[in-house]
Amino acid sequence: MEGEKALLWGGRFTGATDPLMVQFNASIGVDKRLFLEDIQGSQAYAKAIARVGLLTDDELQSIIDGLDKVLEEWNSGTFEIQKTDEDIHTANERRLKELIGAIAGKLHTGRSRNDQVSTDMRMWLYKASGRLQDFLKKLMAVFIERATVEVDILMPGYTHLQRAQVVRWSHWLLSHASSLSRDLQRLQQLQKRVNVLPLGSGAIAGNPFGIDRELLAKDLGFDGVSLNSMDSTGDRDIIAEFTFWGTLTMMHLSKWAEDLIIYSTKEFSFIHLSDAYSTGSSLMPQKKNPDSLELIRGKAGSVFGKCAGFLVTLKGLPSTYNKDLQEDKQGMFDTYDILSAVLQIATGVLTTLQVNACQTHGALSEDMLATDVAYYLVRKGVPFREAHGLAGKVVQLAESEKCSMSELPLGKLQSLSLSFDSDLANVWDYNHSVEQYTSAGGTSKESVMKQIENIKAGCGLV
Ligand code: ARG
Repeated sequence: MEGEKALLWGGRFTGATDPLMVQFNASIGVDKRLFLEDIQGSQAYAKAIARVGLLTDDELQSIIDGLDKVLEEWNSGTFEIQKTDEDIHTANERRLKELIGAIAGKLHTGRSRNDQVSTDMRMWLYKASGRLQDFLKKLMAVFIERATVEVDILMPGYTHLQRAQVVRWSHWLLSHASSLSRDLQRLQQLQKRVNVLPLGSGAIAGNPFGIDRELLAKDLGFDGVSLNSMDSTGDRDIIAEFTFWGTLTMMHLSKWAEDLIIYSTKEFSFIHLSDAYSTGSSLMPQKKNPDSLELIRGKAGSVFGKCAGFLVTLKGLPSTYNKDLQEDKQGMFDTYDILSAVLQIATGVLTTLQVNACQTHGALSEDMLATDVAYYLVRKGVPFREAHGLAGKVVQLAESEKCSMSELPLGKLQSLSLSFDSDLANVWDYNHSVEQYTSAGGTSKESVMKQIENIKAGCGLV
C-alpha cells in the first residue's frame, strides 16, 4: 500500500498494483534517455505558470534550481531510480520533491504527462534529426568527392543484373547519392514538423490557466504551437514519419550495400573493401567477408520492423492519449541508434574502399555497344525501330562469324544497310559511348559534373 501512495497518481487507489503490472507499466528503462528534455521542458513550464501568477518568484527559482540539481545527478550518473519511478516524468518530479519539498507539487499545475511526454520526444527528435543530417551530409560528401576525382573510370551498367550499357563509375556513385539527397531533404522537412509544441494541451482539453503557449514555445526553441489539444496529445505522426524515413534511408543504403557486395566478389573484383570494414571466417582462412555491408543490408529489415510495428500500434486507437502510445519511444530510439551507426559505417566503407579501374574497364565488352550501333544508324536518318533491328542483325552476324562486331568487314555490314560507313569505327570506343549522354542526368562527363553541382546545392553542401 505504501508503494501505491508513493505513486504520483496513487490518490484514488486503495488496492495494491500487481508487482508484475508495475514492471509492465513502467517505461523508465527506455524513457530515462529523455532526462534532459524533460527537465528543460519542466523549467520552461514553471516559467509559463509563474507568468500567470501560479508561482511566486521564489517558488519559481526554487523549482528551477532544484531541477538543475536533478540534471546534475543525471549528468554525473548519481541519479538513483526508485521502484516507484514509473517513467522519466515521475522520476524527475519525485526527486525534485525530495530536494525542494512540497513546492515541487506546483510544477505539474495544468500539465499532464500526455503533453509532457510528447514535448520531450519532440525536443529529443529535433536534435537527433540534426545529428543524423550531419552524418548524412558527411556520407554524401564522400560520394561527391569520389565522383569528382574518379570521373574517368568506366564500368558496365546493369539492368536485371545483366550487362546493359557503359556508364561512368561516378554515375553509379551519384545514383546512390541522389536517393540519399532525397533522404536528407525528407529529414529536413520532417524536422520542421517535429518542431511544433504540444505542451499546454494538458491531458486532453487544453490549459485552463491561460498560459502563453507561444511564449513557452519560444522559450523552448519551438517554431510554433500545436493546433488542437485533443489531436496533439495523441498525435504520433512524427514518430511514424521518422521510422518511415529511417526505413526508406535504410532501403537505399541496403541497395547500395548490395551493389558493393556483388562488386567485391572475386568474380567481379570491381572494388576492394578495406580490412577495417571486413571480417574473416573462423573456418576458411582465405575468406574476407563484407560484413559491414551485410549488416547495413540486414539492419534495413530491423528498421522496417520498427516502422511497421508502430503503424500497427497506432491503427485503430481511439482519440487522444492511450497507453499504447508508450510503445513509441523504443522505435524512435532504435531507429536513431541504427541509422546513426549505419551512416557512420557507410561513410567509413566508402572512404576506404578501392575501385579497381583495370577490372571495371576490362569488364566492358563490345556487345554493350549494340545500342550505340542503333544510335549510329539513327544519326544517319534510319528510324529507331529499324535501326534497333539492324543492330540486332549485326550482333547476330558477329556471332555467326565468330568475331567481334568491330571485326566485321564494312562490306558485310553494308549488305545489311547502306547507312553503315567507315565512321562506324568511332562506335567501338567506350569513351565515345558514354560521352553521347549529354542530356541532364546522363553519364557524359559534363552531365555527371552537373549532377554533382546539383546534389551539392540541393543539400547545402557548397
Ligand atoms: N510514460 C508515458 C508514455 O510514455 C507518459 C504518459 C502517461 N500518460 C498517462 N495518461 N498515463 O506514454
